[in-house]
Amino acid sequence: MKFFIDTANVKDIESAYKIGVLSGVTTNPSLVAKEGVKFEDRIAEILQLVPEVESVSAEVTPDAETAEEMIAQANELIKINNHDDKITIKLPMTLAGLEACRYLSRKGVKTNVTLIFTVNQALLAARAGATYVSPFLGRLDDISEDGVLLVDKIAQLFRTHGLDTQIIAASVRHPDHVTRVAMAGAHIATVPFSVIAQLAKHPLTDQGLEKFAADWQKSIK
Ligand code: G3P
Repeated sequence: MKFFIDTANVKDIESAYKIGVLSGVTTNPSLVAKEGVKFEDRIAEILQLVPEVESVSAEVTPDAETAEEMIAQANELIKINNHDDKITIKLPMTLAGLEACRYLSRKGVKTNVTLIFTVNQALLAARAGATYVSPFLGRLDDISEDGVLLVDKIAQLFRTHGLDTQIIAASVRHPDHVTRVAMAGAHIATVPFSVIAQLAKHPLTDQGLEKFAADWQKSIK
């Protein structure tokens, strides 16, 4: 399973990129709004920061309701990346989003259909040609459903039917989500930097380092 970072924060993206674990970046209107910067400017900045990743997802804005409006926005976003295929157009799981997905995927543009909460939604998005689907597991857990089970079922369905759409496990809240979606067959987990940092930690690692440091003080120099 690969890691994408789920943020529009430059510092967090730099921190994850320099440790070599990053294969992509995902953003959404809420994440960009938190940054207080112009959406297109931040996407351009992110694209510069992460030259070696496979995908940077930029979502069409909530005021684009029709497929035509989404496609028009996608065309502007593609220009920011000089038509490089790293830019991935994130589309909502609506009928209009699927129509835009079909159009863009036929043009060779990468797409990420977001706000997936059922297996049927994932199947529709895959059939519309989505490069990625983003099931939101944390938000399902929030309403007492099993988000990891959804990822598991989508992975099983894609394997059974030979669908090559990749699953991005999204709305990942903690390290146990990461382990479980990896085992369930997610191709990618998109996670905030705080979760990446937690993955690297263990109290016994810290204790071990403290002991090495204390013993080193006592050693003959
Ligand atoms: O990747 C989707 C993510 O940004 C939503 O996460 O924690 O707001 O449910 P959350």
